[in-house]
Amino acid sequence: MPSSVMPTSSQSGRRPSAAAVSALGLRKSYGDKTVLDGIDLRIPAGSVFALLGPNGAGKTTTVQILSTLVSADGGQAQVAGHDVATSPDGVRAAIGVTGQFSAVDGLITGEENMLLMADLHHLAKREGRRVAAELLERFDLADAAKKPASTYSGGMKRRLDIAMTLVGSPRIIFLDEPTTGLDPRSRHTMWGIIRGLVADGVTVFLTTQYLEEADELADRIAVLNDGRIAAEGSAEELKRIVPGGHVRLRFTDPDAYRSASAALQVAARDDEALSLQIPSDGSQRELRSILDRLDSLSIEADELTVHTPDLDDVFFALTGPADVPAPTKENVR
Ligand SMILES: Nc1ncnc2c1ncn2[C@@H]1O[C@H](COP(=O)(O)OP(=O)(O)OP(=O)(O)O)[C@@H](O)[C@H]1O
Ligand SMILES: [Mg+2]
Repeated sequence: MPSSVMPTSSQSGRRPSAAAVSALGLRKSYGDKTVLDGIDLRIPAGSVFALLGPNGAGKTTTVQILSTLVSADGGQAQVAGHDVATSPDGVRAAIGVTGQFSAVDGLITGEENMLLMADLHHLAKREGRRVAAELLERFDLADAAKKPASTYSGGMKRRLDIAMTLVGSPRIIFLDEPTTGLDPRSRHTMWGIIRGLVADGVTVFLTTQYLEEADELADRIAVLNDGRIAAEGSAEELKRIVPGGHVRLRFTDPDAYRSASAALQVAARDDEALSLQIPSDGSQRELRSILDRLDSLSIEADELTVHTPDLDDVFFALTGPADVPAPTKENVR
C-alpha cells in the first residue's frame, strides 16, 4: 500500500510545526511478531484524532511509542515539536497520558491521588492543592475526594484518571480507550470532558474500539489493522467506503409496492413485508432522487428508513481477513 506523503522532520526536531503529533514509518516488533509495520500520522494541533482497531492491533503500542514509554524499532515521530527518540524529556513535558489501565491508587483517596500527581509535577504545595481542588470539582469528584479511590465506580475512577493526567496542564493528551467499560451515561460525560479539553485548545489522541465514539469526537480517524493504517478519514468518509448503505421503503398498499419496485433500482425486495431495499449512501442527494422518483409517479411509501453502515460494517470491512481487499486511504479521499 502506498504511504502518504508526510512532512519530513526538521534536523533538530525542534522546529515549530502546526502538527502536534507526526510520525513517519513507525515500526515495532515484539520477538518475531510485527506489531507496527510502518505507521504514518499527522495530527494538527487542537484537533481530535482517533485510532481505531481490533484487540491486539497495536493501538496501545502506538500510544506508548508517541509518549516515549517504549521505543520504536524504526521510523521517527515528533510530538509537540520534539523527537520522541532524541528529546523524550521535551515530549514528556508537553503531554499527558491516560493509559488503558487505570493509574489510580485505590488505597488512597481521590484527593491524595491528585496531590501525588501535583508532587510529581513539582508544583508548590499550595498550588498543588489549588489545582487538585479545581480539577476534582470540574470532574464532579469533589464530594468523593476524601474517600478511598477503591470505593469509586468505574466511571469515577476513569474521571479521576483523566483529572490526574491534567494536573500538569498538558497541551497534548493521549487517552487509551477512555470509555471502555463505561455505561452510556458515563460515556457521554467523558465525551463532554474531552470536548471541553478540545475547546481549551488541547490536542487529543484517543484510541477506541467504538466507531460511534470516534464519530462523536474525532476530526480524523485512522483504522489500524495488520500493523498498518488500513484507512484514514473523517467518520463520514470511512462510513461511505463501506458497502451496505441502503434506504428501506415499506408499503401497505401492494399496488404502490409493485409500482415502486418497477420504478426504482432495487437491491432486495421482500414481497411478504412489502419492503424494498435501495442501495444508497444516505446522502441528501441520493435520498432526494429516490423521493423525487416516487413523487413523480405519485407513489406513497408508508415508512422510509436510512441504513448507514455501522460500527460492525466498518470494522468488518476494514479489519477483515487478508484475502478481502481492504479499502485504502486513496479511495477514502
Ligand atoms: N511488552 C510486550 N511484549 C510482547 N508483546 C507485546 C508487548 N506489548 C504488546 N505486545 C503485543 O503487541 C500486539 C499489540 O498490542 P497492543 O497492546 O498495542 O494492542 P491494542 O491495539 O492496544 O489492543 P487492545 O485493544 O486489546 O488494547 C499484541 O499482539 C500484544 O500481545
Ligand atoms: Mg490497548
